[in-house]
Amino acid sequence: MNPVVWTNIAYLGASVCFIIGLRMLSSPATARKGNLLSATGMLIAIVLTLISKDIVTYKWIAIAILIGTVIGFFTARLVAMTRMPEMVAIFNGFGGISSLLVGWSVYHMMRDQGAFTAFTIYLSVLIGGLTFTGSMVAFIKLSDTWKAISKAVLYKGQQIVNGALLVATVWICVLYTMNSAAHYPLFLVAVVLSLVLGVLVVIPIGGADMPVVISLLNSYSGLAACAAGFVIKNNILIVAGALVGASGMVLTNIMCKAMNRSLANVLFSGFGSVTTSKKGGGGIQGEVSPINVADAYLILEAARSVLIVPGYGLAVAQAQHVVRELGELLEENGCEVKYGIHPVAGRMPGHMNVLLAEANVPYDELVEPDEINPTMETVDVCIVVGANDVVNPAARDDESSPIYGMPIVEVDRARTVFVLKRSMASGFAGIDNPLFFKDNTRMLFGDAKSSISGLVAEFKGG
Ligand code: TAP
Repeated sequence: MNPVVWTNIAYLGASVCFIIGLRMLSSPATARKGNLLSATGMLIAIVLTLISKDIVTYKWIAIAILIGTVIGFFTARLVAMTRMPEMVAIFNGFGGISSLLVGWSVYHMMRDQGAFTAFTIYLSVLIGGLTFTGSMVAFIKLSDTWKAISKAVLYKGQQIVNGALLVATVWICVLYTMNSAAHYPLFLVAVVLSLVLGVLVVIPIGGADMPVVISLLNSYSGLAACAAGFVIKNNILIVAGALVGASGMVLTNIMCKAMNRSLANVLFSGFGSVTTSKKGGGGIQGEVSPINVADAYLILEAARSVLIVPGYGLAVAQAQHVVRELGELLEENGCEVKYGIHPVAGRMPGHMNVLLAEANVPYDELVEPDEINPTMETVDVCIVVGANDVVNPAARDDESSPIYGMPIVEVDRARTVFVLKRSMASGFAGIDNPLFFKDNTRMLFGDAKSSISGLVAEFKGG
């Protein structure tokens, strides 16, 4: 049989691995195997591409694989779990810049392109460039290293500037597609425009809307790869890119639902530009009621139902293992324990699920806000472990709040709430949290891991 046919049959096998692997990722019970299956599909795809394409020299490919493997191995081992979202942002960006470079190099190899090839080259450059710089801006925003752009950056006429740039890219696309050989200068303008657009599209977004941007950029990196696949006529790249693009769109939709916002609203409303006290509590009148570990233990000891609500602070404190231990001790004490997982808790999709799975918390004890909120009045104690924005009642009660409308885990409706955090500081969105001042709330100040370890010690000693 023709080798091309064999190659395409094997590519088909790799695509099936991707699709089944992706499907398996949708449940924590099968996620590890799904990941392995997808990785096997990718290995097949890479090996096959290397042996079936007209590779001029393997030397540079080998060097790149070596460098990539070393960087990938050490970053995966050394990067802290709390820095993982930034790493994901960088990876998205690398996917984007690869597509841009592929498109650009093919332009030089094929000066005389048909309209379709010219169009796919243009798309791979435009989406690739936009994804690259957009992801770098997202990286900076997430790492909070450059305060000036951590929040939404807005200026007068922003929508007009972005709109004009968009019109320019469409106009160049039409001219370039009609006669690519004659329009190299315009092509270069498109490269620059794509890089500028990435920055301008992401800077107006900030605060609690960042999850949507991350998943959207993830989707773009897939679409850029898909376009690059058309450029170099590689079926597996087209399939893999389309899968990433489509699943990224589904995730973006889930994130929008979690924020109760439309995509257009997220992209154009400039959330997070509000100035609020980073120290938290500044705008709210009232007193907080602190509690110590010994008193918290006495209340927990009598509790019949407990809901543990983890947030970003759980990842910072690396408290997942002690949290599981506390959960087990509570269950041994005859208490029903559940974990309330908000879709945007932490700093990346599924952040809390990953941490709790690492500590072997049973999947069937995880509940989403929709499921637990209706029965919240029957919960004796909610233990909020390093969560802030996702339990902020202002999202439900205060129409002037920037997160108004975002669904939350309504812990304030439980009989008693323990909030475990180190200070009165605000969360990622930078807004005050009235939960801390409610009558039924007790603040257990300190690092979450040491507070929970203290409670565990009380249970063991009690
Ligand atoms: P946040 O609102 O960010 O609050 C985390 C809280 O953890 C902080 O108030 C902090 O207070 C506390 N904390 C930090 N280190 C701690 C430690 N060692 N021990 C105890 N507490 C600690 O977290 P959240 O409620 O999970 O909300 C997530 C936010 O991030 C949302 O606004 C969401 O939109 C945004 N976001 C999410 C994602 C995804 S995809 N999930 C991506 C980007 C952004 P102290 O400093 O006082 O301790």
